[in-house]
Amino acid sequence: MKNILVIGGAGYIGSHVVKMLKTQGYKPVVYDNLSTGFKESIDKKIPFVKGDLADKTLLKKVFRKYKINAVMHFAAFAQVGESVKNPAKYYQNNLAKVLNLLDSMIENNIKYFVFSSTAATFGNPITKTISETHPQNPINPYGQSKLFVEKVLKDYDLAYGLKSTVLRYFNASGADESAKIGEAHKNETHLIPLVLQTALGKRKEIKIFGTDYPTPDGTCIRDYVHVNDLANAHILALKYMLKNNKSEDFNLGSSKGASVLEIIKKVQKITGKNFKVVKDKRRPGDPANLIASSKKAKKILNWKTTYSIDKIIKTAYQWELKRKY
Ligand code: UFG
Repeated sequence: MKNILVIGGAGYIGSHVVKMLKTQGYKPVVYDNLSTGFKESIDKKIPFVKGDLADKTLLKKVFRKYKINAVMHFAAFAQVGESVKNPAKYYQNNLAKVLNLLDSMIENNIKYFVFSSTAATFGNPITKTISETHPQNPINPYGQSKLFVEKVLKDYDLAYGLKSTVLRYFNASGADESAKIGEAHKNETHLIPLVLQTALGKRKEIKIFGTDYPTPDGTCIRDYVHVNDLANAHILALKYMLKNNKSEDFNLGSSKGASVLEIIKKVQKITGKNFKVVKDKRRPGDPANLIASSKKAKKILNWKTTYSIDKIIKTAYQWELKRKY
C-alpha cells in the first residue's frame, strides 16, 4: 500500500505532500495538467505524468503501470472570488472532473481516496471554532463544489466501498524549510505571499480588504496552518484509512486566529521592512472569522501543528527570497 497517485502534485500543497511521502518511504506518482502547478516543484526522481483528470484512458494506464493503491486529490481551483464570477469553471473542474476520477478509480478497483476540502464548505461560522459537526452552508461556488464531492464520497462508500478521508484545510501557508518549494500561484491572491512581496518591493502596496469587521482590530481573522503540518496530516490520515478501512473527515487548522493587520505587523517585524498599507473595502464572500477546531484530528490521528504563525511567516519569507519558480 505504498504507491500513491498524487493528482495536482505539482501545486503548492501537493508538492509538499509529495516530498513528505517520498521521505517517509512511499512511492508517490505525480499526475498534473500543469494548468496552475509547476514542474520545477517535483523532484526529478519522482515519476511525473502530465495529464488531465478528464482523461480516463490515461488514468487507467497510470493506475496499472504504477500499481496505484490510493489516490490523493489536490487538483482544484481554489479562489473564492473567481468562483463567484465564474462558477462553471469550478463545477466543471472541482466537481465534474472529480466524478470522472472516482468512476475511473472504481472501475480499476482502487478503493482509497484522500480529498482536499476546505473551511469554505462551512460558510459563516455559528460557533467560535469550527469542528467537523458544524453545519455546512457554503456561501460561494468554490465551497459548494467541494461540499458536493464530500456528499458524493459518502454515497460512494456505501454503494461501492470507496473509502475516503476528507481533509478540510483552513489557511494553508508557509513553505518547506529547504525553501526549494513553496507557495507559488500564477495569479497570487493570498495574504501572506502578497504582504511579503510588498515588503520585498515586488508590489507597491498591500490592501486590507475591510477594516469594519466585528473583530478586535476590524480586520478578518483566519487560522493559518503550515503546509508541512498539513502534509503530515495527509500521511497520518492515509495510514489510518488503510489500517481501519474506514472513511473519515478532519478539520485541519491551528485552532488559533490571526487578523490581517496582525499578519502585516508580523511581516514588518520579521523582514524589518516598512511598506505601504492601504485600507480598502470588504472583499465579497469573506467571513469575519474562520478558526478550526482540530480536536478530532488530534484525538484520532494524533496530529498537531508544530509551526507558530511567526515560523510560518519566516519560512514563507525564505521562500520569497530564494524562489526559482
Ligand atoms: N486579504 C487582504 N488583502 C489581500 C489579500 C487578502 O486583506 O490582498 C484578506 C482577505 O480578505 C482575508 C484574509 O486576508 O480576510 C485571508 O485571505 P486569503 O485570500 O489569503 O485566504 P482566504 O481566507 O480568503 O482563503 C483561503 C483559501 C481558500 C479557502 C479558505 C478557507 O485560499 O481556498 O482559505 O478558509 F477556501
